Amino acid sequence: MGQDAIVQIRNLNKTFRGRAGTVVALDDISLDIMRGEIFGIIGLSGAGKSTLVRCINFLEVPTAGTVTVDGEELGKLSKRDLLDARRSMGMIFQQFNLLQQRTALQNICFPLEIAGTPKAEAEKRAEELLGIVGLSDRANAYPSQMSGGQQQRVAIARALATNPKILLCDEATSALDPTTTRSILSLLKEINRKLGITIIVITHEMAVIEEICQRVAIIDASHIAEIGAVDQVFTRPQSTMAKQLIYPDGKQRERLATGKRYCRIVFDGNSSFEPVVSNMVLECKAPVNIMFADTKDMDGKAYGQMILQLPDDERAASRALAYLETQNVHVEEGLSDDFT
Ligand SMILES: Nc1ncnc2c1ncn2[C@@H]1O[C@H](COP(=O)(O)OP(=O)(O)O)[C@@H](O)[C@H]1O
Ligand SMILES: [Mg+2]
Repeated sequence: MGQDAIVQIRNLNKTFRGRAGTVVALDDISLDIMRGEIFGIIGLSGAGKSTLVRCINFLEVPTAGTVTVDGEELGKLSKRDLLDARRSMGMIFQQFNLLQQRTALQNICFPLEIAGTPKAEAEKRAEELLGIVGLSDRANAYPSQMSGGQQQRVAIARALATNPKILLCDEATSALDPTTTRSILSLLKEINRKLGITIIVITHEMAVIEEICQRVAIIDASHIAEIGAVDQVFTRPQSTMAKQLIYPDGKQRERLATGKRYCRIVFDGNSSFEPVVSNMVLECKAPVNIMFADTKDMDGKAYGQMILQLPDDERAASRALAYLETQNVHVEEGLSDDFT
């Protein structure tokens, strides 16, 4: 741990005290974010995600614990050094937060003006950034003249203006439709790959994590419930919150009848989906109901899982399980309660 961590968070606590009482927003959070990765933080509304991301750049000062960014412990820096450290972290938001009275180009120049960059140089850099985000033709457009996706692109360009090492994205696609979301996520991936910027993605949507993150932390009521590689967490969620996020709406519970036998098949990329299921039906010579399936094909390999209701006939069920054992899948057998 920590060998090439660009962000190290240790025992972080954040408590808000107000008239309404005390709110513990973050409770003993420790995690490492590695240089160059796209790291996801997911949780329900109110879980503490925004507070966590604001503690990473010290917009919010932690109540306890430490945040170390690129080797510097933020709590120990002078005001001036903290400003420098902050400049190494760009941030984008759900509502874009562009200045409405400024054009796209002027919005991107804004952080450079604050940093004291000469105007001509700032404008040159802003034009270059407009090119990176694919908006060279909208330099003189005002936010109100742009779509949500275009505004978020301007916000990304603005966040990149000071050459940050880290880009923090707090629900950056939550206000966008699915197509625009995909285009913004692919832009973020490209920025990560081409510019080598570490990206921290905060979201409440699993689909976003799945699309671009390599690792994910699941935050549940102020603490980390689970952390791991995205494909691991998706195929074998351990915590209640991970399960809740991965199988939303508790759909499984309603549909699984008590007293029946079920099995869960986890596909983690070592097999393809079709032959496993169709051959199993042939092998056991009995109908098998698929109760739940959330699988996807990536490069011809199956990921995800499904829950099957095993035949009532004992021997048919054994044949089905025996067949599955010979396949490159992970199989768990049980009653309905085991899978909810
Ligand atoms: N400035 C603040 N003052 C008081 N409570 C706050 C403040 N910011 C956040 N909180 C509380 O902290 C908790 C976590 O909030 P937040 O980090 O915004 O969650 P998320 O981004 O996951 O929705 C919530 O209970 C919220 O009401
Ligand atoms: Mg939030």
